[in-house]
Amino acid sequence: MNELLQQHARVLSGMRPTGRLHLGHYHGVLKNWIELQHQYDCYFFVADWHALTTHYEDPQIIPDSVWEMVIDWLAVGINPGEARLFIQSQVPEHAELHLLLSMITPLGWLERVPSYKDQQEKLKGRDLTTYGFLGYPLLQAADILIYKAGLVPVGEDQVAHVELTREVARRFNHIYGREPGFEEKAEQARKKMGKKSAKLFSQYHKEYTERGDLESLQAARALLESQQNITLNDKERLFGYLEGGGRMILPEPQPLLTKASKMPGLDGQKMSKSYGNVISLRDEPEVVERALRTMPTDTQRVRRTDPGEPARCPVWQFHEVYSDDSVKTWAADGCRNAGIGCIECKQPVIEAVLSELKPIHQRVRELEQQPEMVRTIIAEGTEEARDMARQTMEEVRLAMSLRHL
Ligand code: TRP
Ligand code: SF4
Repeated sequence: MNELLQQHARVLSGMRPTGRLHLGHYHGVLKNWIELQHQYDCYFFVADWHALTTHYEDPQIIPDSVWEMVIDWLAVGINPGEARLFIQSQVPEHAELHLLLSMITPLGWLERVPSYKDQQEKLKGRDLTTYGFLGYPLLQAADILIYKAGLVPVGEDQVAHVELTREVARRFNHIYGREPGFEEKAEQARKKMGKKSAKLFSQYHKEYTERGDLESLQAARALLESQQNITLNDKERLFGYLEGGGRMILPEPQPLLTKASKMPGLDGQKMSKSYGNVISLRDEPEVVERALRTMPTDTQRVRRTDPGEPARCPVWQFHEVYSDDSVKTWAADGCRNAGIGCIECKQPVIEAVLSELKPIHQRVRELEQQPEMVRTIIAEGTEEARDMARQTMEEVRLAMSLRHL
């Protein structure tokens, strides 16, 4: 997608409610969402059906996790005035699209998604040889395509899911975007743009098809994007026509790769619930303080008088996230010449984490006093999401010959 189109892009992302959010989520995902909500038309949702694909035997944790997740999102600064927040299972159209996409998705595509085998390996305690788990990335494709999202902020591990989404969309458009008389309809649509635009479009189209000129392709797309007086269907036709395909009913999304979070866990590995090394967003100050005080340091620094090396110490990685240059210099020098003790070195980190969490806790307490307001935010987000999803499903049903009587 070119930059012009990106500016108008809809952004969609989801999170599975399988437990408490921690600092890794905050630094790795939520801070990014907070930035994006100012720049794009954002849809953020709680993927409770996805949680069920792995937690079908113990779904009890899902409802509390959903509730806490929504409150935490709001508490860290996701703004319902800018982004739509909703819950996947409250927009059942996702399931309908998942079903319809399943008709055209070759089994091999799903079996080859790396997370399928990886997660089965990793979550050995759970039986994941289910139909639902195999379909996990296809449900994700439905989540994305139903909003015609252009950009999907995800971490490295999810890029393959967005790639699958693109393949499924391409297949869908290829099979169902070929209506009878497509070329003529596209020609008519072109003329509806008005003389000047129609002529420009023809010129770009010619340059692209004859010489493969990508700049002309981009210019033509931007031209289409800016058209106010042709219908959505005609626009889809022209987008498809441009590239020699059929009507572009489900546009292909792009992953928006979130740069890997630098947030380490208490043991220096990536912060993750499964490693048991997290500081949860809801942890009380005493708990946070104790966790940081007792976290391991450079194992070669046994006594206070032994010099240490920050590069070997997980605390140093916390300094990298939380401390300014002068504190970092103080810590690194003090470590290397045994000028400071580890407890001393941890103190600024403890204070930084506590002051980061303090306003979040305050907001959580306020929000928990207003459950009705939180419900209303979700209800409104869901309503808007559903309108969009319903519209897409109308088009999808029509394309798949499912509008009877
Ligand atoms: N699979 C994603 C994860 O585990 C969650 C998710 C579900 C998602 N549907 C999505 C993310 C759609 C982006 C878009 O993190
Ligand atoms: Fe780690 Fe700081 Fe102790 Fe050095 S002084 S080992 S950086 S905690």
